[in-house]
Amino acid sequence: MVDVSHASLNYGDLNDARSGRVPVGAVLGSDAAGVVVQAAANGTGPAVGTRVVALTSGAFAERVAIDVGALAEVPKGLDPAQAVALPVAGVAALRSLRAAGLGPDKRVLITGASGGVGRFAVQLAARAGAHVIASVGSAARGEGLAEAGADEVLIGLEGLRQPVDVVIDSVGGPQLVEAWNLLAPGGSVQSVGWTSGEPAVFPPYATVGPAKSLTSFVIEGDTGADLAALTELAAEGAVTVEIGWQGSWDRFDEAAGALRGRRIPGKAVLEVAGAEPHATVPSPQD
Ligand SMILES: NC(=O)c1ccc[n+]([C@@H]2O[C@H](COP(=O)([O-])OP(=O)(O)OC[C@H]3O[C@@H](n4cnc5c(N)ncnc54)[C@H](OP(=O)(O)O)[C@@H]3O)[C@@H](O)[C@H]2O)c1
Repeated sequence: MVDVSHASLNYGDLNDARSGRVPVGAVLGSDAAGVVVQAAANGTGPAVGTRVVALTSGAFAERVAIDVGALAEVPKGLDPAQAVALPVAGVAALRSLRAAGLGPDKRVLITGASGGVGRFAVQLAARAGAHVIASVGSAARGEGLAEAGADEVLIGLEGLRQPVDVVIDSVGGPQLVEAWNLLAPGGSVQSVGWTSGEPAVFPPYATVGPAKSLTSFVIEGDTGADLAALTELAAEGAVTVEIGWQGSWDRFDEAAGALRGRRIPGKAVLEVAGAEPHATVPSPQD
Protein backbone atom coordinates (compact mmCIF):
# COMPACT_ATOMS: atom_id res chain seq x y z
CA MET A 1 0.00 0.00 0.00
CA VAL A 2 1.45 3.31 -1.08
CA ASP A 3 0.69 6.89 -0.08
CA VAL A 4 0.89 8.68 -3.41
CA SER A 5 2.81 11.95 -3.56
CA HIS A 6 2.96 12.30 -7.36
CA ALA A 7 1.15 10.93 -10.41
CA SER A 8 1.96 11.52 -14.02
CA LEU A 9 -0.47 12.11 -16.84
CA ASN A 10 -0.29 10.00 -19.98
CA TYR A 11 -2.04 10.39 -23.29
CA GLY A 12 -3.39 6.89 -22.60
CA ASP A 13 -5.08 8.12 -19.39
CA LEU A 14 -7.02 10.65 -21.45
CA ASN A 15 -7.96 7.91 -23.93
CA ASP A 16 -9.12 5.72 -21.02
CA ALA A 17 -11.27 8.56 -19.67
CA ARG A 18 -13.10 8.90 -22.99
CA SER A 19 -13.14 5.24 -24.00
CA GLY A 20 -16.41 4.17 -22.40
CA ARG A 21 -14.56 1.01 -21.30
CA VAL A 22 -13.81 2.36 -17.83
CA PRO A 23 -16.81 2.21 -15.46
CA VAL A 24 -18.07 5.51 -14.10
CA GLY A 25 -16.47 6.14 -10.71
CA ALA A 26 -13.40 4.02 -11.41
CA VAL A 27 -10.07 5.61 -10.54
CA LEU A 28 -7.98 6.39 -13.60
CA GLY A 29 -4.23 6.87 -13.80
CA SER A 30 -1.24 4.62 -14.47
CA ASP A 31 1.90 6.22 -12.99
CA ALA A 32 2.26 6.73 -9.22
CA ALA A 33 5.14 7.54 -6.88
CA GLY A 34 5.06 7.73 -3.11
CA VAL A 35 5.94 5.93 0.10
CA VAL A 36 5.04 2.41 1.23
CA VAL A 37 2.67 2.55 4.19
CA GLN A 38 1.95 -1.17 4.39
CA ALA A 39 4.27 -3.91 3.13
CA ALA A 40 3.05 -6.92 1.13
CA ALA A 41 1.48 -9.51 3.45
CA ASN A 42 3.65 -12.35 2.03
CA GLY A 43 6.86 -10.57 2.98
CA THR A 44 7.93 -9.72 -0.56
CA GLY A 45 8.51 -6.19 -1.71
CA PRO A 46 9.77 -3.05 -0.02
CA ALA A 47 9.38 -2.23 3.67
CA VAL A 48 7.21 0.50 5.15
CA GLY A 49 8.78 3.91 4.51
CA THR A 50 10.44 2.95 1.19
CA ARG A 51 10.07 5.46 -1.62
CA VAL A 52 8.62 3.68 -4.67
CA VAL A 53 7.35 4.31 -8.19
CA ALA A 54 4.94 2.07 -10.06
CA LEU A 55 2.99 1.38 -13.19
CA THR A 56 -0.40 0.54 -11.76
CA SER A 57 -4.07 1.03 -12.45
CA GLY A 58 -5.84 3.54 -10.23
CA ALA A 59 -2.79 5.79 -9.85
CA PHE A 60 -4.87 8.99 -9.51
CA ALA A 61 -5.51 8.40 -5.82
CA GLU A 62 -4.06 9.39 -2.48
CA ARG A 63 -3.46 5.78 -1.50
CA VAL A 64 -3.21 2.77 -3.80
CA ALA A 65 -2.56 -0.97 -3.39
CA ILE A 66 0.09 -2.01 -5.91
CA ASP A 67 1.38 -5.42 -7.02
CA VAL A 68 4.96 -5.86 -5.84
CA GLY A 69 5.99 -6.82 -9.38
CA ALA A 70 4.81 -3.48 -10.73
CA LEU A 71 6.99 -1.24 -8.62
CA ALA A 72 10.59 -0.19 -8.14
CA GLU A 73 12.36 1.66 -5.37
CA VAL A 74 13.18 5.29 -6.11
CA PRO A 75 16.99 5.49 -5.88
CA LYS A 76 18.65 8.07 -3.63
CA GLY A 77 19.09 11.35 -5.44
CA LEU A 78 16.07 10.91 -7.71
CA ASP A 79 13.12 13.20 -7.02
CA PRO A 80 9.76 11.34 -6.96
CA ALA A 81 8.43 14.00 -9.38
CA GLN A 82 11.04 12.79 -11.87
CA ALA A 83 10.58 9.10 -11.08
CA VAL A 84 6.84 9.25 -11.64
CA ALA A 85 7.35 10.37 -15.24
CA LEU A 86 9.03 7.05 -16.06
CA PRO A 87 6.56 4.16 -15.82
CA VAL A 88 4.26 4.21 -18.87
CA ALA A 89 6.33 6.45 -21.14
CA GLY A 90 9.75 5.06 -20.18
CA VAL A 91 8.73 1.40 -20.19
CA ALA A 92 6.95 1.81 -23.56
CA ALA A 93 10.08 3.42 -25.03
CA LEU A 94 12.42 0.79 -23.58
CA ARG A 95 10.33 -2.24 -24.53
CA SER A 96 9.39 -1.09 -28.03
CA LEU A 97 13.05 -0.41 -28.83
CA ARG A 98 14.00 -3.79 -27.41
CA ALA A 99 11.26 -5.53 -29.44
CA ALA A 100 12.45 -3.80 -32.60
CA GLY A 101 15.95 -5.23 -32.15
CA LEU A 102 17.98 -2.14 -31.45
CA GLY A 103 21.71 -2.09 -32.14
CA PRO A 104 24.58 0.24 -32.89
CA ASP A 105 24.48 1.99 -36.25
CA LYS A 106 20.81 1.23 -36.83
CA ARG A 107 18.78 4.10 -38.20
CA VAL A 108 15.90 4.65 -35.81
CA LEU A 109 12.94 6.92 -36.56
CA ILE A 110 10.89 8.10 -33.59
CA THR A 111 7.60 9.83 -34.34
CA GLY A 112 5.84 12.00 -31.76
CA ALA A 113 9.37 12.55 -30.44
CA SER A 114 8.37 15.67 -28.50
CA GLY A 115 6.07 13.70 -26.20
CA GLY A 116 6.52 11.43 -23.20
CA VAL A 117 7.31 8.16 -24.99
CA GLY A 118 9.19 10.00 -27.74
CA ARG A 119 11.69 11.85 -25.52
CA PHE A 120 12.62 8.68 -23.66
CA ALA A 121 12.87 6.69 -26.91
CA VAL A 122 15.25 9.29 -28.39
CA GLN A 123 17.53 9.08 -25.36
CA LEU A 124 17.51 5.28 -25.07
CA ALA A 125 18.11 4.75 -28.80
CA ALA A 126 20.99 7.24 -28.73
CA ARG A 127 22.52 5.46 -25.73
CA ALA A 128 22.42 2.21 -27.73
CA GLY A 129 24.48 3.85 -30.44
CA ALA A 130 21.71 4.21 -33.03
CA HIS A 131 21.42 7.03 -35.55
CA VAL A 132 18.31 8.74 -34.17
CA ILE A 133 15.82 10.63 -36.33
CA ALA A 134 13.24 12.49 -34.26
CA SER A 135 9.99 13.54 -35.93
CA VAL A 136 7.92 16.36 -34.41
CA GLY A 137 4.96 18.56 -35.35
CA SER A 138 6.77 21.92 -35.48
CA ALA A 139 10.21 23.47 -34.98
CA ALA A 140 9.27 24.62 -31.49
CA ARG A 141 8.27 21.06 -30.52
CA GLY A 142 11.73 19.87 -31.53
CA GLU A 143 13.53 21.97 -28.92
CA GLY A 144 15.89 19.99 -26.71
CA LEU A 145 15.80 16.83 -28.83
CA ALA A 146 19.27 17.28 -30.34
CA GLU A 147 20.65 17.66 -26.79
CA ALA A 148 18.70 14.51 -25.84
CA GLY A 149 20.59 12.57 -28.52
CA ALA A 150 18.71 13.03 -31.80
CA ASP A 151 21.06 13.18 -34.83
CA GLU A 152 18.28 14.67 -36.96
CA VAL A 153 15.11 16.52 -35.94
CA LEU A 154 12.45 16.64 -38.67
CA ILE A 155 9.06 18.26 -38.96
CA GLY A 156 6.86 15.36 -39.97
CA LEU A 157 9.01 13.20 -42.23
CA GLU A 158 10.08 16.13 -44.40
CA GLY A 159 13.27 15.44 -46.34
CA LEU A 160 13.73 11.89 -45.07
CA ARG A 161 14.84 9.83 -48.07
CA GLN A 162 17.23 7.17 -46.75
CA PRO A 163 15.67 3.98 -45.39
CA VAL A 164 15.37 3.38 -41.67
CA ASP A 165 15.75 0.09 -39.76
CA VAL A 166 13.41 0.81 -36.86
CA VAL A 167 10.36 3.02 -36.39
CA ILE A 168 8.89 3.73 -32.96
CA ASP A 169 5.55 5.19 -33.96
CA SER A 170 3.16 6.91 -31.60
CA VAL A 171 1.35 9.04 -34.19
CA GLY A 172 -0.26 6.54 -36.63
CA GLY A 173 -2.36 7.71 -39.58
CA PRO A 174 -0.75 8.85 -42.85
CA GLN A 175 2.64 9.26 -41.12
CA LEU A 176 2.65 5.55 -40.29
CA VAL A 177 2.16 4.74 -43.99
CA GLU A 178 5.02 7.09 -44.92
CA ALA A 179 7.23 5.54 -42.24
CA TRP A 180 6.40 2.05 -43.54
CA ASN A 181 7.49 3.08 -47.01
CA LEU A 182 10.83 4.25 -45.56
CA LEU A 183 11.45 0.98 -43.72
CA ALA A 184 14.41 -1.09 -44.97
CA PRO A 185 14.06 -4.82 -45.65
CA GLY A 186 14.33 -6.66 -42.33
CA GLY A 187 13.19 -3.54 -40.49
CA SER A 188 10.55 -3.19 -37.79
CA VAL A 189 7.81 -0.65 -37.10
CA GLN A 190 6.53 -0.74 -33.54
CA SER A 191 3.04 0.71 -33.40
CA VAL A 192 3.00 2.15 -29.90
CA GLY A 193 0.26 4.78 -30.20
CA TRP A 194 -2.01 6.68 -32.54
CA THR A 195 -2.21 10.31 -31.43
CA SER A 196 -3.15 11.51 -34.93
CA GLY A 197 -6.51 9.75 -34.58
CA GLU A 198 -6.46 9.33 -38.35
CA PRO A 199 -6.71 6.14 -40.39
CA ALA A 200 -3.65 4.73 -42.13
CA VAL A 201 -4.39 3.84 -45.76
CA PHE A 202 -1.80 1.61 -47.41
CA PRO A 203 -1.68 1.84 -51.20
CA PRO A 204 -2.02 -1.46 -53.05
CA TYR A 205 1.14 -3.59 -52.87
CA ALA A 206 2.68 -1.42 -50.14
CA THR A 207 2.94 -4.57 -48.01
CA VAL A 208 4.26 -6.83 -50.77
CA GLY A 209 8.03 -7.18 -51.05
CA PRO A 210 11.10 -8.12 -49.02
CA ALA A 211 10.14 -9.05 -45.46
CA LYS A 212 9.74 -6.26 -42.93
CA SER A 213 7.29 -6.01 -40.07
CA LEU A 214 4.64 -3.81 -38.50
CA THR A 215 4.08 -4.98 -34.94
CA SER A 216 1.44 -3.93 -32.47
CA PHE A 217 2.70 -2.96 -29.04
CA VAL A 218 1.29 -2.85 -25.54
CA ILE A 219 2.87 -2.92 -22.08
CA GLU A 220 2.09 -6.26 -20.46
CA GLY A 221 3.21 -8.22 -17.40
CA ASP A 222 5.46 -7.13 -14.55
CA THR A 223 7.18 -3.82 -15.15
CA GLY A 224 9.22 -3.61 -11.92
CA ALA A 225 12.56 -4.74 -13.40
CA ASP A 226 12.40 -2.33 -16.35
CA LEU A 227 11.25 0.44 -14.06
CA ALA A 228 14.21 -0.23 -11.74
CA ALA A 229 16.59 0.02 -14.72
CA LEU A 230 15.01 3.29 -15.84
CA THR A 231 15.08 4.86 -12.37
CA GLU A 232 18.78 3.95 -12.05
CA LEU A 233 19.51 5.59 -15.41
CA ALA A 234 17.60 8.69 -14.33
CA ALA A 235 19.37 8.81 -10.94
CA GLU A 236 22.76 8.62 -12.69
CA GLY A 237 21.73 11.38 -15.09
CA ALA A 238 22.11 8.99 -18.03
CA VAL A 239 18.45 9.61 -18.89
CA THR A 240 16.97 13.05 -18.40
CA VAL A 241 13.36 13.42 -17.37
CA GLU A 242 11.90 16.49 -18.99
CA ILE A 243 8.89 17.75 -17.08
CA GLY A 244 6.93 20.14 -19.26
CA TRP A 245 4.13 20.75 -16.76
CA GLN A 246 4.02 20.28 -12.99
CA GLY A 247 1.30 21.32 -10.59
CA SER A 248 -1.28 20.29 -8.04
CA TRP A 249 -3.72 17.56 -9.04
CA ASP A 250 -6.62 19.99 -8.61
CA ARG A 251 -5.29 21.61 -11.81
CA PHE A 252 -5.91 18.37 -13.71
CA ASP A 253 -8.03 20.10 -16.40
CA GLU A 254 -5.19 22.47 -17.19
CA ALA A 255 -2.70 19.60 -17.51
CA ALA A 256 -5.06 17.51 -19.64
CA GLY A 257 -5.83 20.46 -21.94
CA ALA A 258 -2.14 21.22 -22.42
CA LEU A 259 -1.30 17.57 -23.15
CA ARG A 260 -4.10 17.21 -25.66
CA GLY A 261 -3.20 20.63 -27.15
CA ARG A 262 0.40 19.45 -27.79
CA ARG A 263 1.80 22.15 -25.50
CA ILE A 264 3.77 19.92 -23.12
CA PRO A 265 7.35 18.99 -23.97
CA GLY A 266 7.97 15.65 -22.28
CA LYS A 267 5.81 14.80 -19.29
CA ALA A 268 3.08 16.30 -17.10
CA VAL A 269 3.39 15.60 -13.37
CA LEU A 270 0.61 16.02 -10.82
CA GLU A 271 1.39 16.69 -7.18
CA VAL A 272 -1.00 14.81 -4.92
CA ALA A 273 -1.94 16.37 -1.61
CA GLY A 274 -2.18 13.45 0.81
CA ALA A 275 -4.19 13.72 4.03
CA GLU A 276 -1.59 12.20 6.38
CA PRO A 277 1.86 12.21 4.81
CA HIS A 278 3.50 8.80 5.26
CA ALA A 279 1.06 7.65 7.94
CA THR A 280 1.44 3.89 8.34
CA VAL A 281 -1.52 1.56 7.92
CA PRO A 282 -2.09 -1.01 10.66
CA SER A 283 -1.56 -4.55 9.35
CA PRO A 284 -4.48 -7.02 9.68
CA GLN A 285 -2.88 -8.74 12.71
CA ASP A 286 -2.40 -5.46 14.65
N1 LIG B 1 0.90 0.71 -26.40
C1 LIG B 1 1.29 1.12 -25.21
O1 LIG B 1 1.52 0.31 -24.29
C2 LIG B 1 1.49 2.58 -24.99
C3 LIG B 1 2.28 3.05 -23.94
C4 LIG B 1 2.49 4.44 -23.85
C5 LIG B 1 1.88 5.31 -24.75
N2 LIG B 1 1.07 4.80 -25.72
C6 LIG B 1 0.47 5.67 -26.74
O2 LIG B 1 1.53 6.35 -27.38
C7 LIG B 1 1.08 7.63 -27.79
C8 LIG B 1 2.00 8.70 -27.21
O3 LIG B 1 1.86 8.72 -25.81
P1 LIG B 1 2.58 9.85 -24.96
O4 LIG B 1 2.20 9.60 -23.56
O5 LIG B 1 3.99 9.94 -25.35
O6 LIG B 1 1.80 11.14 -25.49
P2 LIG B 1 2.27 12.68 -25.52
O7 LIG B 1 3.24 12.92 -24.44
O8 LIG B 1 1.03 13.47 -25.61
O9 LIG B 1 3.07 12.78 -26.89
C9 LIG B 1 2.44 12.49 -28.09
C10 LIG B 1 3.08 13.26 -29.21
O10 LIG B 1 2.31 12.99 -30.38
C11 LIG B 1 2.21 14.14 -31.15
N3 LIG B 1 0.80 14.41 -31.49
C12 LIG B 1 -0.21 14.72 -30.68
N4 LIG B 1 -1.34 14.91 -31.37
C13 LIG B 1 -1.01 14.71 -32.65
C14 LIG B 1 -1.73 14.79 -33.86
N5 LIG B 1 -3.04 15.10 -33.86
N6 LIG B 1 -1.08 14.52 -35.00
C15 LIG B 1 0.24 14.23 -35.00
N7 LIG B 1 0.97 14.16 -33.88
C16 LIG B 1 0.35 14.41 -32.72
C17 LIG B 1 2.72 15.32 -30.36
O11 LIG B 1 3.89 15.78 -30.98
P3 LIG B 1 3.93 17.19 -31.80
O12 LIG B 1 3.19 18.19 -31.03
O13 LIG B 1 5.38 17.43 -31.95
O14 LIG B 1 3.28 16.87 -33.12
C18 LIG B 1 3.01 14.75 -28.99
O15 LIG B 1 4.23 15.23 -28.48
C19 LIG B 1 -0.36 7.74 -27.37
O16 LIG B 1 -1.19 7.32 -28.43
C20 LIG B 1 -0.45 6.73 -26.22
O17 LIG B 1 -1.75 6.26 -26.04
C21 LIG B 1 0.87 3.47 -25.85
